[in-house]
Amino acid sequence: MEVGVKEPVDNVVSRPVNVPADRVIDFDIYRDVPEELDFHQSWRQLMDTVPYPLMWTPHNGGHWVAFKASVSDIVMSDSERFSNHTVLVPKETAGEAYRLIPLSLDPPEHRPFRNLLNDNLGPKPLKPVEDTIVDLTVSLIEGFRPKGRCNFVHEFAEQLPVRIFMQIVDLPVADLPKLKHLADQFTRPDGSLTYPEVAQLFREYLDPVIKARRGAGGQDMLSRMINGQVGGRELSDLEAQNICIQVLVGGLDTVVNMLGFTFSYLAKDHDLRQAIAADPSRIDDALLEFFRRFPVVSSAREVRGDIDFEGVNLKAGDMVMAPTIVVAIDDEMNDNPLDFQLNRPARKHSTFGKGSHTCPGAHLARMEMKIVLREWFARIPEFRIAGDEPLRYTNGIVGSVKPFVLEWDI
Ligand code: HEM
Repeated sequence: MEVGVKEPVDNVVSRPVNVPADRVIDFDIYRDVPEELDFHQSWRQLMDTVPYPLMWTPHNGGHWVAFKASVSDIVMSDSERFSNHTVLVPKETAGEAYRLIPLSLDPPEHRPFRNLLNDNLGPKPLKPVEDTIVDLTVSLIEGFRPKGRCNFVHEFAEQLPVRIFMQIVDLPVADLPKLKHLADQFTRPDGSLTYPEVAQLFREYLDPVIKARRGAGGQDMLSRMINGQVGGRELSDLEAQNICIQVLVGGLDTVVNMLGFTFSYLAKDHDLRQAIAADPSRIDDALLEFFRRFPVVSSAREVRGDIDFEGVNLKAGDMVMAPTIVVAIDDEMNDNPLDFQLNRPARKHSTFGKGSHTCPGAHLARMEMKIVLREWFARIPEFRIAGDEPLRYTNGIVGSVKPFVLEWDI
């Protein structure tokens, strides 16, 4: 690997013969959301303007994008036609640099690795972490509450889930900035590192950790996974690295951004704040609607063999992006989908994915979000966004709200 040589984040290619001219769209998943739109509105605008639910973009190596719930869900879950071999674009750089386990594995190879994760992320193994989450949540909130303001993203959202996570995997909090930076380059690369550099830095960091924890009897999540069995054998060093990178990326970025979307919305919805403050048991309903209304992940699949799909011919090796975002905000799934409805009678979404790769971290994510809402509303029931600047958003494999300041009366 040539360290220091920057790879362009984008990689624009010309239209291949299997792509009809009217299927082309100028869409770059790593481009910032236009200033006048919010993240989900910008996706909805695309859905409303594209002529077909499956379009092709020349950006990031050239790939298809689903703009309709039913198409995205099929691509995500139909492993007969769409492989998990590569789940990131550009395929040749990002996709090839990360062989994530278990995300890049197809059935039946996927299952034993997935079992390792399920064994460690269910309600039972996570029960002991609950008190830690409460303590950390309270101490972070109490740290800034008397000041009447905080940079919500920097001082809270980026702190809580990642510190909890470092505890679960028993890694030092001092390593957090380094790991968070690497995780961000993975989901929203800024061009400061090439994809192989990011993968290599992850491996260099994890290699001694894995070696030290092999057979050492540790009970943290990484130790239990590293020392787990797949199909009656031990994990190789490379497999152990790839499963650890996957868990770090999954655990370090998603909840941070879900918190950003949730609190930036709460700050603008007076009635919702009042409803929760008056009756904290409404937090359960609010959570269901937050997870429906604010999906953030846009992952992709690789076409296995030439197929006709959605009126076009897909070639073996073509990449198809299946954003979870378009599922929840499609009228076919939810009435008035961009409305936040606490009392929504039914909800359909794929915020945690669809099919065999559906997120194993969903229980942890729900647990963290519930504790945060409960402890926050018990201490700061009324708050607003400081200043007049509109919120700004970043697209990427995981969408995010750019840092914003909340303030409240003291
Ligand atoms: C609100 C928070 C979260 C959201 C919205 C979310 C979303 C997702 C989605 C959409 C997928 C499927 C991706 C695909 O099929 O291509 C996924 C997979 C995954 N997530 Fe999460 N996630 C969240 C939190 C977490 C946490 C906290 C962890 C780890 C502790 C985690 C670990 C993983 C792993 C390991 C996979 C791969 C599973 C497999 O391939 O079988 N996630 N997540």
